[in-house]
Amino acid sequence: MQVWSDYQDTNKEKFLEELKELLRIPSVSAQETHNADTAKCAEAVKQSLLKAGCDSVEICETAGHPIVFGQKFVDASLPTILTYGHYDVQPAEPLELWTNGPFDPVVIDGKIYARGACDDKGQMYMHVKALEIMNATNTLQCNVKFIIEGEEEVGSTNLGKFLEDYKEQLKADVVLVSDTSMISMEHPSIETGLRGLAYMEVEVVGPNRDLHSGVYGGAVANPITILSKMIASLHDENNHITVQGFYDKVVALTEAERVALNKAPFDLKEYTDELGIEEDWGEKGYTALERTGVRPTLELNGMWGGYIGEGAKTVLPSKANAKISMRLVPNQNSHEIAELFTAHFNKIAPNCVKVTVTEHHGGEPVVTPTDSIAYKAAEKAIATTFGKDPIPTRGGGSIPIIALFEKILGLKTVLMGFGLDNDNIHSPNEKFDVANYYKGIETIPYFHKYFAEMKK
Ligand code: BES
Ligand code: MN
Ligand code: MN
Repeated sequence: MQVWSDYQDTNKEKFLEELKELLRIPSVSAQETHNADTAKCAEAVKQSLLKAGCDSVEICETAGHPIVFGQKFVDASLPTILTYGHYDVQPAEPLELWTNGPFDPVVIDGKIYARGACDDKGQMYMHVKALEIMNATNTLQCNVKFIIEGEEEVGSTNLGKFLEDYKEQLKADVVLVSDTSMISMEHPSIETGLRGLAYMEVEVVGPNRDLHSGVYGGAVANPITILSKMIASLHDENNHITVQGFYDKVVALTEAERVALNKAPFDLKEYTDELGIEEDWGEKGYTALERTGVRPTLELNGMWGGYIGEGAKTVLPSKANAKISMRLVPNQNSHEIAELFTAHFNKIAPNCVKVTVTEHHGGEPVVTPTDSIAYKAAEKAIATTFGKDPIPTRGGGSIPIIALFEKILGLKTVLMGFGLDNDNIHSPNEKFDVANYYKGIETIPYFHKYFAEMKK
């Protein structure tokens, strides 16, 4: 619509400057030293929502970081869109790998670099600006509610309780989220599923203290060696996961679904080249798209033990540790998988060591419908602004709260993400293409429009 594009054209620079302001706040949810920053960021989000046109915005304190809850009521006859996003970001470390400071946003070659540029401040803020556009041009076609939380990157531990407590106030017709990726500007796509997550930590303890590796080595098990062997055994020669019962509940795709999934434009050579690897890797019998979308995985996220300082120290360490996470697909359950993993890891431990397994936060996998009004509205909105129908894909990442929107609020979600897989989210030099940011802002009002029209 002309009024929308006029408003956006006039305010382009402002929209970018405001995002930069938000990116300057180091709202790292995992680090307590940043607690004042997360609070400051929540306040900044609140102010931005009020300025964009919300009638009321509450900062809801939780046992952790606050949740920002905003509302704009237009008319009782209109449908309500509940937009979800997060203002917290991943830690920026290792800092030395950033070309520019992680909280000192810069635009280079049409890309804005900063922690949170894509995940999720940039994408969340598109919705705030879309609201501003619709409000300023008097073209709001839906009632709007916003939940912008500050704990997504640490497992959304307190958001479930908030959903229970605010069930009445959160009544809506659909949840709209921009916190995922699309294939490219040339091939817009919509993720129609997310994987779940079971996150474990293991400790392997051998002797009761660190030992001289010459005096004792040979007669006492080295916990790092034992842990390495145990970890190596978690995948077999076909890269299947060996945890007993792991695949029992996995729903296999039909042949037709596999064919459809693999129709998405994907060039394996480009993929490996961009990552600087000779070859891809993974579960035998599945394509890279299947392995990252619809198959479960097990990854080592960290491993430590022994001496890692300067020079050499001949030590036989007392213990070794690892963080291991599993991405889950329908119908796996994160707690069941955590239990299976714990039982398996204890079982494969030799008697020469003691093993402790603990479970961190997790989340359940989701599949979002493609035959709903909301999905069709998103499809049409993207087709309008990109000039091309979006391709449905399956995302490899996780957003644990999506399953709870359905369980607690009875609401389905549309994952209308505008990031790209190579935006370096969670990595150094995270970026978001400015063109994607503007495209998102342009597309969201159309979603509101088509959703309202199709709901009639
Ligand atoms: N936005 C991501 C999830 C994502 C990214 C989904 C790209 C699809 C495509 C989210 O912020 C995230 O990083 N989630 C975590 C899980 C959380 C419990 C820490 C993840 O996927 O590791
Ligand atoms: Mn995110
Ligand atoms: Mn993230």
